[in-house]
Amino acid sequence: MLADKDRIFTNLYGLHDWHLPGARARGDWDGTKELILKGRDWIVNEVKNSGLRGRGGAGFPTGVKWSFMPKQSDRPTYLVVNADESEPGTCKDRDIIRHDPQKLIEGCLLASAGMGVHACYIYIRGEFVNEAKRLQTAIDEAYEAGLVGKNACGSGYDLELYLHRGAGAYICGEETALLESLEGKKGQPRLKPPFPAAVGLYGCPTTVNNVESIAVVPTILRRGASWFAGIGRPKNEGTKIFCISGHVEKPCNVEEAMSIPLRELIDAHAGGVRGGWDNLLGVIPGGSSVPVIPKSVCDSVLMDFDALRDVKSGLGTAAVIVMDKSTDIVKAIARLSKFYKHESCGQCTPCREGTGWMWRVMERMVKGDASVAEIDLLLDVSYEIEGHTICALGDAAAWPVQGLIRHFRPELERRIKEYREAASRRAA
Ligand SMILES: Cc1cc2nc3c(=O)[nH]c(=O)nc-3n(C[C@H](O)[C@H](O)[C@H](O)COP(=O)(O)O)c2cc1C
Repeated sequence: MLADKDRIFTNLYGLHDWHLPGARARGDWDGTKELILKGRDWIVNEVKNSGLRGRGGAGFPTGVKWSFMPKQSDRPTYLVVNADESEPGTCKDRDIIRHDPQKLIEGCLLASAGMGVHACYIYIRGEFVNEAKRLQTAIDEAYEAGLVGKNACGSGYDLELYLHRGAGAYICGEETALLESLEGKKGQPRLKPPFPAAVGLYGCPTTVNNVESIAVVPTILRRGASWFAGIGRPKNEGTKIFCISGHVEKPCNVEEAMSIPLRELIDAHAGGVRGGWDNLLGVIPGGSSVPVIPKSVCDSVLMDFDALRDVKSGLGTAAVIVMDKSTDIVKAIARLSKFYKHESCGQCTPCREGTGWMWRVMERMVKGDASVAEIDLLLDVSYEIEGHTICALGDAAAWPVQGLIRHFRPELERRIKEYREAASRRAA
């Protein structure tokens, strides 16, 4: 379990003042100028050595990503912070923005200084109306105090910070669709390569990072890379905000040590599974995109990138969706299929056609109105979508279906059998 002294988000529950004076009293903006003056290479190396991996889902090492930005550029360079947070089950960036916005703003400055960037955009999900207002107020407070803008914190470094509101499309969380949307175009993913570090916003070198990835940076730089790297397991270091929802006694967001056992996470912070651990059916451990794992896996799995990959699921955004035995698991996954069908941008044929096809078959699977052979057909189609699209929305649509078939195939077969028996009874 994470010791209180190791907690980064000391106002995650909004119990204290979120305005600048309150944030400063909690240690934000302490010695920021000195951190900037340590130089670009020092900042990037500290973040690399901390082991921080991107908190937006894919887990790419943050310091390594920053090192892809050009050292010299005759064009502007940008940092874009992804505050689109639309993955079902995920609500951590929202609470950082609500309760600890200065951590994000200070992180924008330090990350920008690490990459030699002088303009940073925060792209916020359209539905976060109140959060956008609050974040703008926090940005204004930081400007008024001279913390950002020209000569930020008296360091001689200039950074302009802009807040941009999206219009509420899941696909705009995908980093290149986000860039298109930020440029005022339809939010459709771009082909990669070129990657944003070479050709990003307005065709200029750009880094896109998740809110949590950026908001932890000031504390890492203040406390040192080795402090952060000492939490969790090798290659899975640091603290992480987990969003625990579903059939638990006390749904919550909680900052914990990476690699905490799933059972301990749920029992210690969410009051346990409704009706007790033995009443658990399964968990979607990383937001709606990642494959469900059954109770037998949940009993011992650790909550980190590598442990969850090893059990053919993923840490994703660390949104832990708990389902007890009252759950209609086929219906639950069919509902996710509907979501992905709705959110597909339609650009790639496998995703545009495949998500709708999977959803329609899943709707029949809910009733049992299908054949057993269609289970394998469904699996085949999911593999035809996975890896065959410009962005990972296709993968995100395929994985829940694959997880269902991997672990709950007998339930699908039972429904098909019962439906057929009922049909023959009716015919007799
Ligand atoms: C369909 C789709 C939606 C995504 N939505 C988000 C999102 O809301 N927030 C986010 O940070 N990353 C999201 N991502 C991941 C981003 O493309 C990108 O990997 C991330 O912002 C990089 O930040 P990080 O390296 O700090 O994790 C999404 C990816 C896909 C394919």
